[in-house]
Amino acid sequence: MSRQPLWLRCEKKEFERRAALTPTTAKKLIDSGFDIYVERDEQRIFDDAEYEAVGCTLVENNSWPKAPVTTPIIGLKELPVSDDPLPHTHIQFAHCYKRQAGWSSVLSRFHRGGGTLYDLEFLTDESGRRVAAFGYHAGFAGAAAGALAHAAQKNGQPLGQLEPYENEAAMVKAVKERLGGSGKGVKALVIGALGRCGRGAVDLFRKIGLDEDDIVKWDLAETAPGGPFQEILDVDIFVNCIYLSSPIPHFVTADTIRAAGKDRRLSVVVDVSCDTTNPHNPIPIYNINTTFDKPTVPVDVGPGNPPLSVISIDHLPTLLPREASEQFSSDLLPSLLELPNRQTARVWVTAEQLYKQKLAEAVEAEGL
Ligand SMILES: NC(=O)c1ccc[n+]([C@@H]2O[C@H](COP(=O)([O-])OP(=O)(O)OC[C@H]3O[C@@H](n4cnc5c(N)ncnc54)[C@H](O)[C@@H]3O)[C@@H](O)[C@H]2O)c1
Repeated sequence: MSRQPLWLRCEKKEFERRAALTPTTAKKLIDSGFDIYVERDEQRIFDDAEYEAVGCTLVENNSWPKAPVTTPIIGLKELPVSDDPLPHTHIQFAHCYKRQAGWSSVLSRFHRGGGTLYDLEFLTDESGRRVAAFGYHAGFAGAAAGALAHAAQKNGQPLGQLEPYENEAAMVKAVKERLGGSGKGVKALVIGALGRCGRGAVDLFRKIGLDEDDIVKWDLAETAPGGPFQEILDVDIFVNCIYLSSPIPHFVTADTIRAAGKDRRLSVVVDVSCDTTNPHNPIPIYNINTTFDKPTVPVDVGPGNPPLSVISIDHLPTLLPREASEQFSSDLLPSLLELPNRQTARVWVTAEQLYKQKLAEAVEAEGL
């Protein structure tokens, strides 16, 4: 049987250090009959040499348009905006299936080039659950940012710029240091604690030394009575990790915060779910997404009351590029191993059906 080629392209989005394929997964693919081409990329958290060492063929940065059209191209983020037709098969997050800004022009590039898009967000298992997602490290990094903001606030300072950490241990060490050696004594509430992001948030709090009793874990059962919840105001850090699928009562509101006055313990809200512009956002106390250079936004708490900040960064896993990539890539591996049988393998067939449906909608919208 001939070997299956796969081409890892560089990421062009600023600050994006993650990779869809890591040297570990690349090695497993090579051992299973793949030829892996890797574009040289200084931005990526993994060195080019790490890929070369496991047998990948290194190619020029951003040279995928010249790759043979039969070679699928894998990457994470959107391609830079352009009108160029796309003749290849692309495996990536394209953010164009939910009618996001520019969705139909992205899909029209595939239409004109004759290529195929397998959107990573829509590769699912038999039960409809995503085969690979970045949630765990989003929660982990979000909880770390929350703990850093809490420590800064105790010292009367705003939280400064956040930078990606070399690895998880470095992040845990830095957070503990800022908290004076340990997070013991800090109390946190994680809602959506049974999900991917929620499990990551709980693990970070454990690793920085919070007592188990001080990590309050809520999921659907606990929020079933409907908010707003006093319990949120009685912890230092509240991390929201729910998957919002239908309107629910607010978890916390500007009124409940003001009414708590000086007795409020809550100092930081981390909204990992980031339903910022969703009209049903259960945390309607902020209205912007924050960024690595300005990670917090203050809440209007009323005169004389203790400060409260919100962190609403929508690309938190970028703070842990190495581990986030390793986890994502290894979760994706079983599906990638099916790539040579993509005409019959369920995960790819389903993704292609969805692509064709979205493509037809785009063709109609663009009048092609
Ligand atoms: N900020 C970021 O960088 C980032 C990164 C990845 C994912 N996310 C977002 O985080 C959210 C969660 O993603 P996930 O992969 O962890 O989802 P998930 O499906 O694995 O987990 C969601 C959890 O929320 C629970 N839940 C849903 N509604 C609830 C409610 N009303 N009350 C209590 N619990 C509730 C579910 O039972 C589940 O346990 C999504 O909105 C996702 O888009 C954000």
